[in-house]
Amino acid sequence: MNLVSLKKLGDVRGALIAVEQNSDIDFDIKRVYYMYNTEPGVRRGFHAHKKLRQLAIPVSGKCTFLLDDGHTKESITLDNPELGLLIEPMVWHEMYDYSKDCVLVVLASDHYDEDDYIRDYETFKRLILK
Ligand code: TYD
Repeated sequence: MNLVSLKKLGDVRGALIAVEQNSDIDFDIKRVYYMYNTEPGVRRGFHAHKKLRQLAIPVSGKCTFLLDDGHTKESITLDNPELGLLIEPMVWHEMYDYSKDCVLVVLASDHYDEDDYIRDYETFKRLILK
């Protein structure tokens, strides 16, 4: 599991975390997006990326990731804003069990590009086995 430990800079006033390119993450951040107010029971994702690299940080609440590299499936619950999950290319991922207060921030290595998505699981498996 590719977890990145993020340094907490808080003091008595509360917590603060800064994520910096080239120290905390080894890719250029070209896009930031976040998911929040996810409805109960929703499962989303269901894709892999051809080239995109991402770091997902649960800044509030929790959610669970299923990660599948085509050989092994693992699941992990993200519930700590001090730990980010690296989602590398060619990893099928699904997200579920979002808590009501979940805010999931994702730092991405590139702009949104639908051509970088593999949204069909059988296609993903075929590409992995190539
Ligand atoms: P979608 O890929 O379905 O989200 P998920 O895979 O996490 O379930 O994205 C929902 C919509 O938002 C879809 O129409 C694509 C669009 N979108 C963007 O325009 N830019 C982005 O950076 C992302 C992540 C999604």
